[in-house]
Amino acid sequence: MQTKIVKINRENFTDIQLNEAGEIIRDGGLVAFPTETVYGLGGNAFDPEAASKIYAAKGRPSDNPLIVHIADMDGLSEIVENVPESAAKLAAAFWPGPMTLVMRKKPVVPDRTTGGLDTVAVRMPVDEIARALIRVSGVPIAAPSANRSGRPSTTTAQHCIEDLDGRIEMIIDGGSVDIGLESTIVDVTGDIPMLLRPGAITLEMLRDVLGRVDIDPAILGPMAEGVRPKAPGMKYKHYAPKAELTIVMGEPDKVRDKINELVAADIAAGRKSGVIATLESRNAYHGQTTLKVMGTRNDESTVARNLFAILREFDETGVDRIYSEGFEDTGIGRAIMNRLRKAAGYSILEVD
Ligand code: TXA
Ligand code: MG
Repeated sequence: MQTKIVKINRENFTDIQLNEAGEIIRDGGLVAFPTETVYGLGGNAFDPEAASKIYAAKGRPSDNPLIVHIADMDGLSEIVENVPESAAKLAAAFWPGPMTLVMRKKPVVPDRTTGGLDTVAVRMPVDEIARALIRVSGVPIAAPSANRSGRPSTTTAQHCIEDLDGRIEMIIDGGSVDIGLESTIVDVTGDIPMLLRPGAITLEMLRDVLGRVDIDPAILGPMAEGVRPKAPGMKYKHYAPKAELTIVMGEPDKVRDKINELVAADIAAGRKSGVIATLESRNAYHGQTTLKVMGTRNDESTVARNLFAILREFDETGVDRIYSEGFEDTGIGRAIMNRLRKAAGYSILEVD
């Protein structure tokens, strides 16, 4: 299949430029498109065949449900049985935006879209290109992140080309995304709302609106045998770079010393290693290492924006080991650490 690449200038475009993309979606085809979080791989959410094509293009297990993207609140009532009070409050506060809500689905949403669950994950993105695409398509768009299964999510059209060229009908190039990590997912089907995946809408922000919000234990660590995470996607291997990634946590000076020591040991053993640092620490690393700067600790959203691109870059440098600094589990740091821990296969070194 020839994948058409269409550039859209987000500062200045009209819906007409998305007509062909909308037609592809309506006809059951697939279009990768930008959202404010990461690029999505979209298909008609009402079409089970489109869902199957999405799983095939990603190489994703079909029990891992897709997020359904809507443009307005009418789109919501079309696909969910009822809107719980907590959902209405969260939607009023954070939609359109980087938050996904899990609710009971209506029968029009095919089982293949929801991986056989009787619930559906719904998001109203704020990105103008994403919103225009949903409008022009005339149907809600089912879209997982636009990466091959197991790879870091895509934050540029170039990443989508790397992973999906020749496997889907179109890639819309709308430039780099704003946030860089996938949406916050909240399950609002139970009595107490539960955070299933941390994102840019932080736990603190959710609690400001709702009071009590619980955390799915699957977020914090590796799955114990037999424990089923609420978001099926949380059980799969994610984001893993080819190199072995270790997160080094602790007091900043000690973290830097430890990483320098590990790099020196790698050099002595003939291994190539890389370091993921921050603006504040970049000059503290020496020795033969590939150094990449995620962003600044003064504004962790810069770290969120660059993390996935950096993990992809390391796959091209051919290093054997990567050491990354860690962050605190507060604010967006919780989402950064959730992705980093998974990328590291939960390999964390505490220095003290
Ligand atoms: O920011 C995002 O959410 C991006 C953009 C494209 O919107 N999408 C995204 O989709 O990250 P994906 O498929 O990579 O992640 C969806 C997650 C998976 O972990 C999946 O298991 C969970 O949402 N999920 C989907 N439907 C669910 C449901 N009904 N109940 C619980 N978890 C669900
Ligand atoms: Mg994904």
